[in-house]
Amino acid sequence: MTHPVREKDEHSGVETTGHEWDGIRELDNPLPRWWLWVFYACIAYSIGYWVLMPSWPGLTGYTRGLLGQSDRVEVSRALNDLATVRGAGAAKLKTATLAQIESDPELQAYALQVGTSIFGDNCATCHGAGGGGAKGYANLRDDVWLWGGTLEDIQQTITYGIRSGDDQGRMSQMPAFGRDQLLNSAQVADMTEYVVALSGRQASAAAVTRATPVFAEQCASCHGPAGKGMQSVGAPDLTDSDWLFGSDRASISSQIHNGRGGVMPAWGHRFSPETIKALAVYIHANSGQ
Ligand code: HEC
Ligand code: HEC
Repeated sequence: MTHPVREKDEHSGVETTGHEWDGIRELDNPLPRWWLWVFYACIAYSIGYWVLMPSWPGLTGYTRGLLGQSDRVEVSRALNDLATVRGAGAAKLKTATLAQIESDPELQAYALQVGTSIFGDNCATCHGAGGGGAKGYANLRDDVWLWGGTLEDIQQTITYGIRSGDDQGRMSQMPAFGRDQLLNSAQVADMTEYVVALSGRQASAAAVTRATPVFAEQCASCHGPAGKGMQSVGAPDLTDSDWLFGSDRASISSQIHNGRGGVMPAWGHRFSPETIKALAVYIHANSGQ
């Protein structure tokens, strides 16, 4: 390689660097002034940064900087603050009664926050994302309750479950009238008409007449003489437009035939009493009461 020869460019009068590629020569123009200043400013900034902030790695650690800044310390301070706030909320939940939680806006807000997150993770699989329910899974958003909608009722349902196998769980079983031949198929058909009539819809009058004494004998003990339901045994109101298993004749007839009973797990051994309180407050508030 030959040593580069610097010469003057005849067009611009600027000296070249002496580098040449395929006849193209590089002019030795000075760097633009603005660019130089930015460059110097960056150097000054980085020196300032090294002095003030953690920067240079060493063998056993790193230079800490005069400001003592540390993301790790920041994070643990933020976590401590959060734990203090949470701790206060959690401690209050432990001692407060359900009614006290609901009447203290700050504590209620905390309970709702806890309730929302626990519900999303554990209950939404069956009850739907907002608690809207599905066929066979109780709607928790409305004001219709199988087992009772007071704060204490809800707390008890969540703690011990329904047909959950827990000793203190809520328990009742509608007989499978058709399957166990307590009623023959004509009687089941008549009874279906009777239930349709109870909810205020058009039904066969003759069938209703035939089913009336049977209802009083077989069904009224749980659903009440007027079919209004009974929360102590979880028997739904048959006169309203709210249905657990469906409102059409096929669904009603199937329930009379099979006597299904939904199972709701007991959560008392999974969650602390505070968490269950928070869930009860959340569901109570969500149902618009
Ligand atoms: C495996 C499905 C399942 C899961 C999970 C579940 N539930 Fe239920 N839940 C049910 C069923 C089914 C019923 C209705 C039981 C019946 O038919 O009597 C019910 C009923 C209820 C009721 C009573 C409603 C009423 O009208 O009286 C409440 C309150 C309730 N669930 C709350 C919860 C909460 C809170 C959670 C989460 C911690 C939860 N459920 C998780 C299935 C489930
Ligand atoms: C031992 C109490 C009991 C008796 C007796 C009983 N039921 Fe029920 N019935 C229930 C319960 C409890 C449910 C709700 C099951 C559940 O929550 O999963 C229910 C549910 C129903 C439903 C479904 C309601 C809905 O919202 O989807 C119909 C319909 C019904 N019963 C009709 C009858 C008829 C008709 C008779 C008489 C032939 C009868 N039941 C007798 C306890 C009873």
